[in-house]
Amino acid sequence: MEQYVIKGGTPLKGNVSIGGAKNAALGILAAAIMSDETVTIENVPNVRDTRVLLQAIEEIGAKVKYLDNNTVEINGSTITDVTVDYDYIKKIRASYYLLGALLGKKHESNVALPGGCNIGSRPIDQHLKGFRALGAFDDIDKGMVHVKADRLVGAHIYFDVVTVGATINLMMAACMAEGATILENAAKEPHVVDVANFLNAMGANIKGAGTDVIRIKGVDKLHGCSYSIIPDQIEAGTFMLAAATTNGDITVCNVIPKHLESISAKLLEMGCTVIEGDDSVRVVATDRTLKATNVKTLPYPGFPTDMQPQMAIALALAEGNSIVTESIFENRFKYVGELARMGAKIKVEGNTAYIEGVKGYSGADVSAPDLRAGAALVVAALAAEGFSVIDDIEYIQRGYENFEGKLSSLGGSIEKVDNERDLQKFKLKIG
Ligand code: EPZ
Repeated sequence: MEQYVIKGGTPLKGNVSIGGAKNAALGILAAAIMSDETVTIENVPNVRDTRVLLQAIEEIGAKVKYLDNNTVEINGSTITDVTVDYDYIKKIRASYYLLGALLGKKHESNVALPGGCNIGSRPIDQHLKGFRALGAFDDIDKGMVHVKADRLVGAHIYFDVVTVGATINLMMAACMAEGATILENAAKEPHVVDVANFLNAMGANIKGAGTDVIRIKGVDKLHGCSYSIIPDQIEAGTFMLAAATTNGDITVCNVIPKHLESISAKLLEMGCTVIEGDDSVRVVATDRTLKATNVKTLPYPGFPTDMQPQMAIALALAEGNSIVTESIFENRFKYVGELARMGAKIKVEGNTAYIEGVKGYSGADVSAPDLRAGAALVVAALAAEGFSVIDDIEYIQRGYENFEGKLSSLGGSIEKVDNERDLQKFKLKIG
């Protein structure tokens, strides 16, 4: 089993180029099959979740061609199957996007109930509520979700909770329904807007993405297009918080600073210097102690839940006490036990973490409990004195392309190993 071995204590410094947004790519790759023409998508992050989704898309009959590591051509005209294979798709949460894409294209789909990170119950009731409103029937049998419609007719849908997945899924299904659909209480994340822009590039008629109300006029068909995915807000934020956590100086490049505003604001509160360029953000935290502050995760434009572990790990090194409240998912503090092994002092009560800042971390052997917490523990290990080993790094590889390579380029001593001999070799080499 692969692990990261890390020697911490060196501030991370330099420039890092940010890849395409995983959570935009997963919606866009699924939506691409809705056209019977060729769609070319650039800036696709080469991570496990996108590769698994593309495997599943190929499995149901679409043509998938990698033009390079981050550019893919998809043609959905040869899709024959609406049942998405259980083995592939159980591994990722975004399997549910094939429900909306196939329902829109074929008026039927049969997809395994989503897997993904165990950060909460992660129901899909709002997805199914929206599909039913458009005229679909659904049932769940043996872990497979089956949706089918004779006709898809536009409807007025009000989401009971702000949900990224259901917003994206209903945009896909509704863009080929007859008549108009209104999505109320819609998610406004940058990746929701990116999927809407992509669908419009294929000829859909979607207005209002990025606001609470999205209006969709159904069209008969979607044509091919070329599209480039927006930069990953969470990958960028992870490196910005790595600068704070390691007292470093990192510039994230090829980003949209507007998407990072809630993260930049918190870093300023913590005493970091934040310098915004046109497509870059520099975070300077050298030779200063971080200040404590409080954070509550909220739907965009609030502080992102996907940045909660990274933020807590920085605050656990700040001077004073901080409070982190997780309002989106019910089980997103699993990393706290692992971080305690590095010396952090955090008490979790319900959906709130009470943090008492400590002077520093000491290296330890820890396991990644999920994607974002795993990335955060790697950053903590890079700030810690001494060696650490991170297990279960396949979680991290779901959402970060070449994570260890990018961290090494910033001066981090980190290596991916898959046996004890290589682990010891790294320790001897770094000393
Ligand atoms: C997406 O998950 C992201 N995943 C998550 O990122 C992200 O944390 C989340 O949005 C919130 O921003 C992908 O895009 C693949 P939701 P999703 O539907 O769509 C409840 C990462 O690290 N809910 O916005 O599953 C749900 O339980 C991952 O990249 C319902 O109750 O999130 C949660 O409490 C982790 N019923 C809240 O809404 C539903 O039908 C937000 O979920 C759907 C959701």
